[in-house]
Amino acid sequence: MNTECFDIIIIGTGAAGLRIALELAQTTGVSSQIALISKSSLQEGSTFYAQGGIAAVLDNIHDSIESHVSDTLKAGAGLCHKDSVQFTIEQSKTAIEWLIGRGVKFSHEENSNQYHLTREGGHTHRRVIHATDATGKALSESLISQVKQCPNIKLFEHHLAVDLIVSPQNKKQCVGIYVLDTKTNKVIEVPAKFTVLATGGASKVYLYTSNPDSSTGDGIAMAWRAGCRVANMEFNQFHPTCLYHPKAKSFLISEALRGEGAKLKLINGTPFMHKFDQREELAPRDIVAQAIDYEMKRTGADFVHLDITHKSEAFIREHFPTIYKRCLSFGIDITKEPIPVVPAAHYTCGGIITDLDGQTDIANLFAIGETAFTGLHGANRMASNSLLECLVFAKSAAEKIKEELPNYECDPLLPPWDDSRVTGSEEGVVVTHNWDELRRFMWNYVGIVRKNKRLLLAKQRVKLLQREIDDYYRQYLINNDLIELRNLATVAELIIDSAMQRKESRGLHYTLDYPYKDDNTFLHDTILTPENY
Ligand code: FAD
Ligand code: SIN
Repeated sequence: MNTECFDIIIIGTGAAGLRIALELAQTTGVSSQIALISKSSLQEGSTFYAQGGIAAVLDNIHDSIESHVSDTLKAGAGLCHKDSVQFTIEQSKTAIEWLIGRGVKFSHEENSNQYHLTREGGHTHRRVIHATDATGKALSESLISQVKQCPNIKLFEHHLAVDLIVSPQNKKQCVGIYVLDTKTNKVIEVPAKFTVLATGGASKVYLYTSNPDSSTGDGIAMAWRAGCRVANMEFNQFHPTCLYHPKAKSFLISEALRGEGAKLKLINGTPFMHKFDQREELAPRDIVAQAIDYEMKRTGADFVHLDITHKSEAFIREHFPTIYKRCLSFGIDITKEPIPVVPAAHYTCGGIITDLDGQTDIANLFAIGETAFTGLHGANRMASNSLLECLVFAKSAAEKIKEELPNYECDPLLPPWDDSRVTGSEEGVVVTHNWDELRRFMWNYVGIVRKNKRLLLAKQRVKLLQREIDDYYRQYLINNDLIELRNLATVAELIIDSAMQRKESRGLHYTLDYPYKDDNTFLHDTILTPENY
């Protein structure tokens, strides 16, 4: 990558980044230059690992937009923005048709032209379209092969966006980014008329997570440093069922298993979900994860069981081939025995505040996908609504950018990256130690069940870490581990502060000090503003 002007820089190659790139490449014509960058390989990101599917209203006889809207609002525990929910779900069918048109192969009913729709927690209908249990891989591979064919998209793998550059004349306008080439460790400034953050979530801030290594909240931290507000960071979703095995790095066991009747049981075989919610295994995720956490703490067990052995071997192998094979590689035959599972951090419901076009607080800066806060998920995201959000908001942001593009010029003269006063570090241990410490106290003090006292301890620790990280940042040449740690520490503080402000329990935020919902005082978003820091 050189210091050349782009019309649009898109940071991230997950569902959100790929869709907006394809929409813009098609609609702005070959004269527009689009840079599409990923800090890792093109496929690495949560999208590639998505299992269950994409929620959409595709069956107009049994299902309806009203029903999907109502389920989403219910799962969001009073905090979803109704306009965002309606907007997203109304476009769900078109989004799926777009994917099918782009060659994504979804699973069919046996011997039929009809797509197979599965069910997940919170959904009152079968409405989750999927490609067996590897929906993200199917989506990612199709869209990546297409961006590679677009002459006006330039692809940059292993390029990590370090910070946004705001105009020296107008601090409320984004004019480009600083990028680290992680192979050469060189930083350059790249001017662009528009910048799109499609950088995914921040679940790596927790010790145990279903997410890949890329989910370090870079977009949220960069936008925050540049002056954007963020909302609802206390609502980090914990997926109830990740494989419990010393060698499985938080492998997800899809909620679709429960959609097909799998039961959660204690190690002695006793089912327990009926004690917590009449929807049992198909209650929304916040309820199921909290129930498992409660039972593990009550019984002292390290895990609970998820049992799908009531289904035939043929059914399991056909619908869940990835999960079947992965579990078998650890010696667990899921057709014959229950799967040991634990909850793990899975999804960032909060993020950079945007409108329905993905526009942030800063001109020429858009945010889409998991990094954004659109108001869709409220206090708890319903299963399979995330990929849908990526696809819908990528499209609306593309339309807005296309409309505004002719009004802007690129500013080729950006302040150059200055590393004249730093040296190479021989203290890498500080970075690795702080990564571990941060993720551990976030898991222990700011996890599924919270308390004022633990939040306060976490706040003190994050402040200490931030001071150490800032010193290190000022003294030494940067690398990806340091950049990601700095971003994780920012995100951790935003989560802790948001959790401290919400003095009630709602959705994914459960605190022993305020165990009940308080609609009189807290029926609103937790908004944090950089100027107040
Ligand atoms: P991602 O797909 O995470 O992509 C982020 C991109 O940004 C990556 O390319 C990354 O390299 C890049 N990036 C990040 N920071 C930088 C930086 N500083 N510089 C350059 N590049 C950067 N949701 C559903 O709706 N249905 C499901 O079935 C489902 N299953 C899931 C299963 C798993 C195991 C996981 C982890 C999540 C699942 N989710 C599911 C959630 C969903 O997959 C994600 O929310 C969604 O894929 C996020 O897409 P995204 O485009 O916003 O980000
Ligand atoms: C899953 O397959 O359980 C994940 C679905 C999601 O996160 O929406």
